[in-house]
Amino acid sequence: MFIVNPKIEKYIQDLMPPMSPVLQEMTQYGYQNDFPIIGPLCGQFLQQMAVAANANNIFEMGSGFGYSAAWFARGLQPDGKIICADGDPNNRERAISYFKRLHIDDRIEFHVGRAQEILQQFKGPFDIIFNDVDKEQYPDTLDLVVPRLRKGGLFITDNALWDGQVTEPGGDIYTMGVKEFNKQIFARRDLATMIVPLRDGLAVSVKL
Ligand SMILES: C[S@@+](CC[C@H](N)C(=O)[O-])C[C@H]1O[C@@H](n2cnc3c(N)ncnc32)[C@H](O)[C@@H]1O
Repeated sequence: MFIVNPKIEKYIQDLMPPMSPVLQEMTQYGYQNDFPIIGPLCGQFLQQMAVAANANNIFEMGSGFGYSAAWFARGLQPDGKIICADGDPNNRERAISYFKRLHIDDRIEFHVGRAQEILQQFKGPFDIIFNDVDKEQYPDTLDLVVPRLRKGGLFITDNALWDGQVTEPGGDIYTMGVKEFNKQIFARRDLATMIVPLRDGLAVSVKL
C-alpha cells in the first residue's frame, strides 16, 4: 500500500533543494542495493527535527550505513554529537567512509552491537533518539528510551505505518511489533505522539 501517493512524493521531492553529491551517492547506493534507508523526504524531516530541537546529542538505534545520521548531522548544533548503533560491522565501515567525505566524522561515534545494549551504556539525556531497529523489537525499546530523553526531547521511529499492514487485523511478528509499539506510544502519559504519514510513517513522540 502506498502511504503517500507517488505523484505527491515526487512533487515534494522536486521542491526540495538538491542534495550534496555524497548524499546523492548514498541515496543511490541505498536504492540500488535494496537497503531500507529513510529516503530524502524523511531525511529532510529529520534534519528539521534536529534544528527544531536545538539538538546537541542524538542517539540512533539501527543506523545502517549512516544515511539517516548524515541527514541528522545537517541539523545538528555546531558542537553536537551523534551516536550511531548498528549490529553489522560492514555498515560501520561504509558509514565512516561516507562521514569522512561529508566532513562529519569527528561528530559521529559509530558502535557495533545490539542498539538496546549500547543505549544502556549512556545516561543521556538525549535531545533526539531515533529508532529504526528490527520491527519485532520495537515494543522493547520504549522503557529504555524514555528515561534517556530530555524533557521536550523527541523519540522518532521509522516504519510506524509498516506498508499499511498495521491497518489489517493480526499480522506477522514484525507487524505485531509495530502495532503494539504504536499502541504503547499513544497510551503513554509521558509522551505526546503523532504519526506523520511520510514514506512508511514516522512516529514522533515528544517527552512531556
Ligand atoms: C532499516 S535499516 C536502517 C536504515 C537507517 N536508519 C537509514 O535510514 O539510513 C535497519 C538497520 O538496523 C540494524 N539493526 C536491526 N536491529 C538492530 C538492533 N537491535 N541493534 C542494532 N542494529 C540493529 C540492521 O543491521 C540495519 O542496518
